[in-house]
Amino acid sequence: MKHHTQPCGGFGVAWVSSVLVVSHRFWRNFSKSTSRCCYYKRSIDPTKTCSIGWKYYSCPRPQSLRSFGSLYSTVSSLRCKMLHDAVQPQKVVENGHRFPRNIEFRSDKLGNFGGELMVVALEESQKQSEESLAIPSQLLDQLDKQQQDAVQSFIKETRFQGKLGSSQYQRIFLPGSSIRYIALYGLGKMESSNTEKIDVIRKLGGFVGQVAQQYKSCTSAGIWTSMGSSWKDEQVQALLEEVMLSLYKDDRFKKSPEETEAPNLKEVCLLDDDIQVQSSSVATRAKNVVSGIIMTKELVSAPANVITPTLLSQVAVQLAKQYGMEYKILDKEQCQQMNMGCYLGVAQGSSEPPQFIHLKYSPAQGPVKKKIAFIGKAITFDSGGYNLKAGAGSMIELMKFDMGGCAAVLGAAKVIGELKPPNVQVHFIAAACENMISGNAYHPGDILQASNGKTVEVINTDAEGRLTLADALVYAEQIDTMDCIIDVATLTGAIIIALGNDYAGYWANQEALAQRIETASKRCGEKLWRMPLVNEYLESLKSKIADLRNVGGRAGGSIAAALFLREFVKQSPWAHIDIAGTVWNEKQSAATGFGVRTLVEICESFSHEQ
Ligand code: BES
Ligand code: MG
Ligand code: ZN
Repeated sequence: MKHHTQPCGGFGVAWVSSVLVVSHRFWRNFSKSTSRCCYYKRSIDPTKTCSIGWKYYSCPRPQSLRSFGSLYSTVSSLRCKMLHDAVQPQKVVENGHRFPRNIEFRSDKLGNFGGELMVVALEESQKQSEESLAIPSQLLDQLDKQQQDAVQSFIKETRFQGKLGSSQYQRIFLPGSSIRYIALYGLGKMESSNTEKIDVIRKLGGFVGQVAQQYKSCTSAGIWTSMGSSWKDEQVQALLEEVMLSLYKDDRFKKSPEETEAPNLKEVCLLDDDIQVQSSSVATRAKNVVSGIIMTKELVSAPANVITPTLLSQVAVQLAKQYGMEYKILDKEQCQQMNMGCYLGVAQGSSEPPQFIHLKYSPAQGPVKKKIAFIGKAITFDSGGYNLKAGAGSMIELMKFDMGGCAAVLGAAKVIGELKPPNVQVHFIAAACENMISGNAYHPGDILQASNGKTVEVINTDAEGRLTLADALVYAEQIDTMDCIIDVATLTGAIIIALGNDYAGYWANQEALAQRIETASKRCGEKLWRMPLVNEYLESLKSKIADLRNVGGRAGGSIAAALFLREFVKQSPWAHIDIAGTVWNEKQSAATGFGVRTLVEICESFSHEQ
């Protein structure tokens, strides 16, 4: 019997024969497994096992080996097909045609607007009594008679009041005018903070993109808002980003992606000529940020049979080459030499080999004044391990997103590669692996040793992220003296309970770094909330027989996780961002790209510092 090391080595046939060889063991494993889930492997050479897959069952046990075999050959061939496509990483993260990179941005007088879609964004009236809004006089002045009538009657007929998020749009006929569609968008009461303003602006941008997408022939959208010309650069950037993001469609896994019509929108115009923004640089920044965010989204939402640790490392290498960054990919043996026992402990249950990713951005010219490291959790699939994610609400089917931290870090690498900030050196690090079950998997109760020598008793194999991050943190600090180390991770379900799906939690061991994160978050609109490093809770992470245990009690789970990570940082200013709640949008069933903007802002704040 030949041992197949290639995942695409024709499992269909090999499967049947290997089942015969190991049928005794297979039946033992299979019949022992619960009716819901089973995992089994082909084990011919006992030192070299090769898992062929796992599958949930809601049905009773298959009646015969034959039916079981054929079910599996289908699953494996799908996996082979996906893997085959994925051999080219650019196929998985190729966004060139999916959003209009060539979109133009300008600001102009309303009277000069020659596009098809006019969007009027209005604040809510202070007076409650009125049925619908009156057109603000600044707008009225700029409209000709027939436009005035059209807008006025549209507002009246729809009883439009400018309530936050409310919207209307319709086809109109204005003889002699290019405008063919008008849309109304409610800004609510814009008396709010910068973060909230950015939030509203983002929603408006998304709406503009959606309407433009609806009317296929629309190539140019003009936006008039009652905000006047008080636009800040970052607000215009947010608006443009959101227009572009809303035009993106993920069709990578459709049978015929080429059938998706490319968006036609070529121009976005702010209808106010007093707006003082560096249009071209803001637009360029928006495009670069969007391309990073889209890459992040594509990485996160690609399934685990496509984004394996190996593919993730290939994407990273491709990125490094594209932007002239140095890179290093450490394989299992190299990680062993570095004594990364915690990371390798998690990785050992999977047939996919671990890949430790390290990219380094340095400015092409000029000095390096600051060195920073971004670390991303990179579990390409988190089954939970022997503490299997089995309970209701465990979200196992979504655990492809457990590399969302790494995806955000690589997205940021892409943006930074494009923006080329001076003065900073940035390290992008991820210890990528799968958390799986098999005869090789780590057991609850195992004791692992991290690369800084600390030993950890694995109380729960599902608290795997902190184990992989532990070795990544030690690695980052060993590279050089860092001005800051930030890790981003889908680390705990508890952060979803604490903050919901809009806010990510962050912890920082230094006030200055916390301030920097606050400022970054306010500028870009990604919502972050500081959480405490409660020293007293460290008690719960003490083990009787090792230096640490990987979980404490249920209470304060996210804080305990942060404290665990802190044990692997010696002296650097360090922050940890838990994005378990924000990585995924349930309603849209899509990745959010959360983290990219904040990391880019942080990098730039270091870059501009003198
Ligand atoms: N990847 C999960 C965290 C997670 C859960 C992210 C739900 C998004 C949604 C992480 O590896 C995990 O399983 N954490 C455990 C920790 C526990 C065992 C202490 C959790 O949160 O349940
Ligand atoms: Mg887990
Ligand atoms: Zn996880």
